[in-house]
Amino acid sequence: MTAFFHRQNGALAVEQVPLARIAAEFGTPTYVYSRAALTTAYQAYAAACKGRRAHVQYAMKANSNLAVLQVFAKLGAGFDIVSGGELLRVLAAGGDPRKVVFSGVGKTEAEMELALSHDVRGFNVESIPELDRLNAVAGRVGKRARVSLRINPDVDAKTHPYISTGLKGNKFGVAFDDVMQTYRAAAALPHLEVTGIDCHIGSQITEVAPYLEALDKVLDVVEALAREGIDLEHIDVGGGLGITYDDETPPDITGFATTLLERVAERGHGHREVLFEPGRSLVGNAGALLTTVEFLKPGESKNFCIVDAAMNDLARPAMYEAYHRIEAVTPRADSAVTYDIVGPVCESGDWLGRDRALAVQPGDLLAVMSAGAYGFVMSSNYNTRGRAAEVLVDGDSVHLVRDRERPEDLFRGEHLLKA
Ligand code: LLP
Repeated sequence: MTAFFHRQNGALAVEQVPLARIAAEFGTPTYVYSRAALTTAYQAYAAACKGRRAHVQYAMKANSNLAVLQVFAKLGAGFDIVSGGELLRVLAAGGDPRKVVFSGVGKTEAEMELALSHDVRGFNVESIPELDRLNAVAGRVGKRARVSLRINPDVDAKTHPYISTGLKGNKFGVAFDDVMQTYRAAAALPHLEVTGIDCHIGSQITEVAPYLEALDKVLDVVEALAREGIDLEHIDVGGGLGITYDDETPPDITGFATTLLERVAERGHGHREVLFEPGRSLVGNAGALLTTVEFLKPGESKNFCIVDAAMNDLARPAMYEAYHRIEAVTPRADSAVTYDIVGPVCESGDWLGRDRALAVQPGDLLAVMSAGAYGFVMSSNYNTRGRAAEVLVDGDSVHLVRDRERPEDLFRGEHLLKA
């Protein structure tokens, strides 16, 4: 439990607000975020960056609610985006597009044009065809696009295979052996300006060692390029720092960021700007998914606790067998029973937690913890289920930051046949 989700007279609260009050006012399932938790995580990065040329580009794919973006924009964050839609969200939240870096392997021409029209800080490019496309689009709109190459350092981040991105077999980044020739190609294109280097080796990484291994390879490239007269302004070390879901012990944010910045300085690159692209470590433990127990279904080999949230609301358990702690909001004194916590969706994969000991009754509230990252953003309308409401707590105030979807919202835009 973080300092922001805590127990008040036994009942779970976020900052100064009991979760039961949020459920009573907004219903369930509802995502609940703590503004203080968001701010504290951001400040932990900012503390390491202080006095150095280093910035945070929030990887907004982790949680792109406008109010969450607004909190980070006000704190001075830049944003790491992966689509034109994300850029429009940054603008809608009052963020500065000149602090936006555009990542992703498959940018369309329209997305490139949109980003150039808002003068984004730069593009993290992953292949020669993408360089060519960006060069052509920039030429057409009469701009020069600032580019970094995302390199694939072939480093094992020791995380779940679906969220590991820096190994040779991944679709991401320019293969390490091709990096120099790709930089030369970029430098030769008239509508591109080569400004940096980028690398992102995976997500939910709980050790510093793979980062240092990747960073050393990145710095080797920076030095080889400098010898050829290609002098990079910035080094983007990616995101990926893990959080505690269960008993993981990731490095603390400030210590982690300081270690990387020190390595950059030790190797004589302190004059270059360093960018961090964190997602999960800024928002993951700032959110919980609040759900209500609908039925208890005892069984021969398993007991099921059926709740009103499902895999469409929080996909991580079904998708990665990810663990999220699940807590009774107002614990009962009765003895605990072991349940699989499952949703109403018609799939056996629809589970939120397995073999959890809980003392619960229908109507009780449960909180699925550490759901601030890759929670709501990965939700879907499967089974024609409206997506959850989102609420942001700030001290003793509760702000509804996204309405619960109604069924009629779900089929707006669909069309019957004429006959
Ligand atoms: N930068 C790039 C280029 C990325 O691809 C990602 C995440 C990040 C930064 C932020 O990584 P973070 O700090 O959040 O680990 N849906 C998965 C995680 C997918 C991560 C995708 N890329 C999950 O629920 O665990």
